[in-house]
Amino acid sequence: MKKDLPTVLVTGGAGFIGSAVCRHLVSTGAYRVVNLDKLTYAGNLSSLRDLDGHPNYAFYKADICDTDKVSEILAAEKVGRIMHLAAESHVDRSIDGPMAFVTTNVVGTASLLSAALAHWRSLGFAEQESFRFHHVSTDEVFGDLPFDSGVFTEESPYKPSSPYSASKAASDHFVRAWHETYGMPVVLSNCSNNYGPYHFPEKLIPLVIANALDERQLPVYGKGANVRDWLFVEDHARALEAVMTRGQVGESYNIGGRAERTNLEVVETICALLDARRPRSNGKSHLDLIAYVTDRPGHDRRYAIDPTKSERELGWRPQETFETGLGRTVDWYLENGWWWRPIREQRFDGTRQGLVGAR
Ligand code: NAD
Ligand code: DAU
Repeated sequence: MKKDLPTVLVTGGAGFIGSAVCRHLVSTGAYRVVNLDKLTYAGNLSSLRDLDGHPNYAFYKADICDTDKVSEILAAEKVGRIMHLAAESHVDRSIDGPMAFVTTNVVGTASLLSAALAHWRSLGFAEQESFRFHHVSTDEVFGDLPFDSGVFTEESPYKPSSPYSASKAASDHFVRAWHETYGMPVVLSNCSNNYGPYHFPEKLIPLVIANALDERQLPVYGKGANVRDWLFVEDHARALEAVMTRGQVGESYNIGGRAERTNLEVVETICALLDARRPRSNGKSHLDLIAYVTDRPGHDRRYAIDPTKSERELGWRPQETFETGLGRTVDWYLENGWWWRPIREQRFDGTRQGLVGAR
């Protein structure tokens, strides 16, 4: 590793967004990146194979709840900034087993904050000034929007619905508390639904692509009318760098792609892309595979991000539209079965056993 570049500790760097952040930060040539990840079912070092052996990249297998180990890494690597993405991230899993979400997202974040505070206090004046704890959060903390009105701004009240979003909301509050109480320089971002390469195939978009390619049902919860606001993951990674480097201390920034779609629209668009790129051998459309299944309990109707503050203050704009980004994503899954097929075989078979019809 080059020792003259600022060192960014990325937690959760083996996950979907974290790996995009590691790849992006290293590609700029402006940072040393230290990836700290526990490698849960969602962590995958094969997402980072492009960085293997790179002089500006290092990996540590560690749990954010292990304050001593985290403290050692912060000191040994002379970390100058932290980007905190490590989390349990899947809403359906949080409904089935909420305590893992409390442990990692709430207790883990507080443990990481404790280690970060001690580290920050040990730094010299200039390093204290440039230090940032950037907490990466979600639009789900704001809760449920009606179908026909409203958007989330940075001033929207917190009203989480699921154990996942409640745990993320709690973590946001702890991060703000460390700033208000101890003066630690923090910045927060709340982003909408991401999609793109290396997305674990339990989430809607990669699940639907993989199931369609395997001639399996495409499960749509309820009537497919719920709305999400989609952002290509590489656009999020660029936004996160902007927040970390240009965001005002103590502030939060909403990030989103102004790309609201119903779930059914998303699934139908994927089917159309696959019909064009990989037609089925029986000559039918992939639309025939859609199956309407039991709805998610407490399913938020709609999320919609107003990204005006990020656009205005950070000069950030997405580079992909939903259509171009989804096309790239479908192409990536068509070309990279080496990445997702082993996951489906070894970790998650895509059937959602115990979820469909179980509640
Ligand atoms: P992910 O589930 O793909 O990855 C999470 C990563 O965190 C994994 O590599 C996992 O091994 C690691 N991890 C989990 N527990 C850990 C622990 N105790 N210690 C260290 N590492 C641990 O998640 P993602 O979709 O990449 O989301 C990353 C972050 O972004 C999360 O904080 C999530 O809340 C937030 N976010 C996600 C989205 C989205 O659409 N995916 C949108 C907005 C915000
Ligand atoms: O909004 C940001 C959030 O987006 C992140 O904070 C979460 O970490 C991330 O997982 C994502 O949460 P969602 O619950 O919105 O994503 P998911 O892909 O699980 O579901 C998207 C929508 O599709 C949601 O309305 C539920 C629906 N769905 C999901 C699955 C897995 C289906 O209809 N069928 C499915 O099989």
